[in-house]
Amino acid sequence: MKASLITILRDSKTNLVDFRRATHKLASILAAEAAAHLGYEQVQVQTPLASAKGVKYQSRLILAPVLRSGLALLPSFLQFFDDALVGMIGAQRDEVTAIAHGYYCKLPAIHPKDDVIILDPMIATGGSGVMTLKAVRDAGAAEERIIFASVIAAPEGLASLKKEFPKVCVITAQIDERLNDRKYILPGLGDFGDRFFGTCSPIPPD
Ligand code: URA
Repeated sequence: MKASLITILRDSKTNLVDFRRATHKLASILAAEAAAHLGYEQVQVQTPLASAKGVKYQSRLILAPVLRSGLALLPSFLQFFDDALVGMIGAQRDEVTAIAHGYYCKLPAIHPKDDVIILDPMIATGGSGVMTLKAVRDAGAAEERIIFASVIAAPEGLASLKKEFPKVCVITAQIDERLNDRKYILPGLGDFGDRFFGTCSPIPPD
């Protein structure tokens, strides 16, 4: 299922509606995968007939989409986790140097026991990912309670996240081959934000 949805996202002929539809479906799968990593506790409930063992999430959840493309994953994650708090982080990469700079950060005060899921579809160099992780940690999150949910990751970006934040759980639907000279992921899908929001600008081939 994930592979077929990624294929739709990769295809440059996919139109805006189909791109959005595939994103929402894929984000729901990623949300289910992330749910498996959240802290829970054992509880006992009473059915109409008997007592039953069960589980209950034990902590608050904060969703942190990285603007702008992380917003594409937010609706599906909110359907899954409808009581989550949402903090936003703005990171923009310089089109020439590909270095990310932060321009916005609005996070709730985070308790070390809270779970945090960062939403960022493309892990390319890892620059904006590391910047976001630092912001979330500075807001109070414990590294081992942070999940980084993405659609496609480049090995270079994954290595950089793992080096700086070894305890963070990274969830990605697919790991691609490498980055090109302009730090786009190959084969990738182009610029995720442009394709999801309909602001497509052509990307020169490698
Ligand atoms: N961001 C994207 O949207 N695509 C890439 O290939 C790299 C970063």
